[in-house]
Amino acid sequence: MQLMHVVGARPNFIKAAPVYAACAKRGFWQTLVHTGQHYDDSMSAVLFKELELPPPDINLQVGSGSHAEQTAGVMVSLEAVLQKARTDWVVVYGDVNSTLAAALVCAKLGVPVAHVEAGLRSFDRRMPEEINRVLTDQLCVMLFTPSQDADANLLREGIGTEKIRFVGNVMVDALVRALPIAENRVWGKAARGYERFALVTLHRPSNVDDPARLAGILESLARISHRLPVIFPVHPRSQRRISALGVDVRTSPALHLVAPLSYLECLNLERRATMVITDSGGIQEETTFLGVPCLTLRDTSERPVTIRLGTNILVGLDYTRLEEEVDTIISGVVKKGSIPPLWDGHAAERIADTLAS
Ligand code: UD1
Repeated sequence: MQLMHVVGARPNFIKAAPVYAACAKRGFWQTLVHTGQHYDDSMSAVLFKELELPPPDINLQVGSGSHAEQTAGVMVSLEAVLQKARTDWVVVYGDVNSTLAAALVCAKLGVPVAHVEAGLRSFDRRMPEEINRVLTDQLCVMLFTPSQDADANLLREGIGTEKIRFVGNVMVDALVRALPIAENRVWGKAARGYERFALVTLHRPSNVDDPARLAGILESLARISHRLPVIFPVHPRSQRRISALGVDVRTSPALHLVAPLSYLECLNLERRATMVITDSGGIQEETTFLGVPCLTLRDTSERPVTIRLGTNILVGLDYTRLEEEVDTIISGVVKKGSIPPLWDGHAAERIADTLAS
């Protein structure tokens, strides 16, 4: 069995790590292709080490650009790689531009392609990820889903049951492996010794690309920081936008904007946080698994199971609602969640077994 994994952005690396490990155990011959969509050490190389992913065999070095530039860049470079390499399956992950680009190239070349984390839908086509999800799923011949709502979405879009396998959540596999290491205090330095704090991550274009919206969020976080210290590791996209705004956050001494965290550092803080405020998909899942309250600054979630069963609450784009929910959690009233089916740390093994058969 010859497998090629194509990864490009931070959440892809986390999802690919357990699948790569499970396939290695079964003796598959594997090639790891990094598209280069994320290239800073803090977004890429550091994660590879912590996740015990081997360095990529091939780096397409596509880098940043407009959606068309980035997607087309991956397509052109990956096509050349696939024309030379023999591979039985290509595996793509999540919903980033690299995911769709790789799936499209494989479909046109007739190379079977499998999608890990298939079927998630926010039903909001203004999100670039939603376009990537819908199209990737149409192109793939094997669809590995993390939750049963995803199966239902795929069936509704006319995809045959024979292509769909409900395997569980590979993000949770990565977390289960990493948590005992991450819990070591050495990884918690970014919490600055606070016993109680809110962890914030924001990078969605809908939150950070509109200056008025971003300024409003920062003001709201500043108010929250008077009640609970706030640790906000800033994604490069958000950093650029915040710098352009010219807002001085130093006037709020307990609002700490810090560099992007490594995977282990981030898990450590998520685990210890009083609450997490986010717009990330993966963090909605991780907090549900960890039982930590999560307030999601979006109108929709492609991960409804984290709301239905988990600790996630959608607060939309409403700061008053956000601050009310923050106060409720500070007062000790928290949403109790449960762990969704098959979020058990063995999803990657089910994927490897399916590919083998
Ligand atoms: C991408 C994904 C998003 C995912 C996120 C995780 C798409 C459409 N979006 O968003 O779904 O949640 O990754 O992080 O694929 N930059 C750097 N260094 C890097 C990478 C990016 O400075 O290593 C900066 C660049 O200015 C770049 C910007 O961040 O233009 C945005 O990067 P990009 O890869 O286009 O999208 P993300 O916002 O990271």
